[in-house]
Formats: sequence, structure tokens, C-alpha cells
Amino acid sequence: MKAKVAEKFRTLFGEEGDFFTSAGRINLIGEHTDYNGGFVFPGAVDKGILAEIKLNGTEKVCVFALDLDEYVEFGLNEEDAPSQSWARYVFGVCREVIKRGGKISGFNAVFAGDVPLGAGMSSSAALESTFAFALNYLFNLGIDKFELARIGQSTEHNYCGVKCGIMDQFASIFGKAGSLMRLDCKTMEYKYYPFHPEGYRLVLVDSVVKHELASSAYNKRRESCERAAAAIRANHPEVEFLRDAKLEWLEEVKDRISQEDYMRAEYVIDEVERVLDVCDALERDDYETVGQKMYETHYGMSRLYEVSCEELDFLNDIARECGVTGSRVMGGGFGGCTINLVKNELYDSFIARAKSAYKEKFGREPKVYDVVISDGARKLE
Ligand code: GLA
Repeated sequence: MKAKVAEKFRTLFGEEGDFFTSAGRINLIGEHTDYNGGFVFPGAVDKGILAEIKLNGTEKVCVFALDLDEYVEFGLNEEDAPSQSWARYVFGVCREVIKRGGKISGFNAVFAGDVPLGAGMSSSAALESTFAFALNYLFNLGIDKFELARIGQSTEHNYCGVKCGIMDQFASIFGKAGSLMRLDCKTMEYKYYPFHPEGYRLVLVDSVVKHELASSAYNKRRESCERAAAAIRANHPEVEFLRDAKLEWLEEVKDRISQEDYMRAEYVIDEVERVLDVCDALERDDYETVGQKMYETHYGMSRLYEVSCEELDFLNDIARECGVTGSRVMGGGFGGCTINLVKNELYDSFIARAKSAYKEKFGREPKVYDVVISDGARKLE
């Protein structure tokens, strides 16, 4: 990938720049908890975005997306926003840096990636993080890592229409090889958890259903959670986010919120608890409990939060039938992957069965990615 990016960069711009990369992510547990002030448990993966970048001494940004074979130029003012969705991520990062007082000017860039798009592995966060990290480095801006993550998050909010939480950008920036991270999205405290589950493997099974309708449905989930939290807050002023609420408190407002908002909130309150249970279980190397919690998350995401789909439910059922320790839909939902914790000796039979059963039912094979937990944003030497 690096050679291809370099070749294109030289052809287009006749020179050489610096290389930057950032990662996609997995999440062991803690889904849709980030924007509710709860806990998440992600890690960066060995798939990401790679960009070659060099300042060009103008006020213009010139970017080539190698995988799409598309070239875009834009200025750095608000009215210069490009229309191509991929370019809006780069533009948004520039604008968010400028809004924070960062003095930047034009640059040339070529980038490519190997995070599968729409698979729930945060290709967009990888793109944002690569450029946020690179601009910080190249313009010597001195922005700290949390703010780099927030630059990516604000890009999603203000330029891409997704009111996402902080998990993806956090994972993409803070990722560390071999470690998952528990992040408290209220206090932003985090801890690395070396993750080497002896006797098990983590594998993603990609339904190849792209989560295209996802952004409006995602934003609606967030609004439901905010309404439920506001209703609970009327009785319990200490509840800033759903993360602060107890199920009994949700019960008290059952008649004041819609059935749908109730279900969404019930899922979130349970899910926050499940992350903590998984952390405890990991301290004891108790992978059976970890796996059981993953199945509970799947159930909640499917029946209460309603962000699964027929294909993902099917893959979850197959995992259970094959004796897989834990399985659930990963990321925002509406398509993408399941994440599976599988005993080594069951791996081959599970993958073979998932492929054949899925193909028989839906007419195409799922894709399979072994998880390698890797480093986050960095400059390549
Ligand atoms: C998407 C968002 C994240 C998070 C997950 C669900 O990936 O970008 O902020 O909310 O969905 O956990």
C-alpha cells in the first residue's frame, strides 16, 4: 500500500512527503454507550488508512483518494466544502483544526486504506485521525491526543451528519498493539488492558451488508437516549447521562416516555453494566463470562436498541450453534460485522459453517477478518 501511495504521490506532485497512518477499530463490548457517558472497550486493528502528505505553500488542499481514483481540491474556508463525502472528512478535519486556533495552510496528499468500508470498523475515524495527527505534526500545533480525537468526532458532527460518540476516534488515536482500552466516556479516564486470551481467538465475520441508512437511524437512537435521560433527571438531578441512571429510575418514568425510548434506555443502562462485568471477568481470565456478556449485548442490540438486521442475527445464531464462546454485532449496527470470541479448536469449523450457511441463506459469503490489535495514529519513518 505504501509503495502505491508513494508512486501516485510522485506522479501527481513530483516530490515526496511524510507518511502517516491511523487504524480502524474493534470493540469488545460497550456499544452505543459512548454518547451516553458510559464505558467502551475498543482496540485499534492492523487495518487502517495510510497517507503521504506534504505542505504545498498555497492555501489549497489537493487530495487524491487512491482506492476511489478520485482527486479533489478545496480551500480552507467554510464555503470551500467539497461535495464528495470522503473529501468532507479531510475538509472537516482542517476546519475543526482551524476552529481550535490551529494555523494551517495548503498541502498535497494521497491516501489509501484497507479498513473495509461500511463494515462497522470505523474507516471514517481512521481517515480523520490520520489527517488530524498529520496536521498536528506538520504544522507543529501542539494539540493533545484527546483533542485530536475530538477533532475527528466534530468532523462527523459538523460535516458528515453523524452525531457519534468519541469511541472510534479515541481508539484510532490511542490504540496500542496487544491492548484493548477501557474508556470512561464521561470522565475520559482510560486504561490499557493487555489482551491475549489464551486458547481463544477474536474474529470478525462481515455480513457484507453495508450500513448505509445508518446515520439518521443512529442520530435517532441518540435522541431517544437524551429524552430518556432528561425524564429521569427530573427526578434525579444527578443524572447527566443515561450512564448515571439505574434501571429503577428508568422504571419510574416509564409512563412519561415512549415505549421506544424506554427500550433504548434499558439497553444502554444494561450495556454500561456489562462493560464493567467484562472487565472484572478479564481480570480473572474468565472468558466464558466475557462471551456470555457478548451474547447479551447482541440480544439487547437486536431486540431493544434495534440496530441489528436479519443477516447479523443469523450469524449470531450460527455462532451459538457452533459453540462459539461470545458473539455479537459490533459497532453502530445496521450491517457490518459480528465480533466473535472463539476457542482455538472450534475456529475452523465455525468459520466453515458460517460461510456455507450464510451463502446458502443469503446467496453470498461473509468475509472473515482475524483481529490483530495494533497501534493507533502515528508517523511512519
Ligand atoms: C459508531 C459511532 C461510535 C459508537 C458506535 C456504537 O461507531 O461512531 O461513536 O457510538 O457506533 O457503539
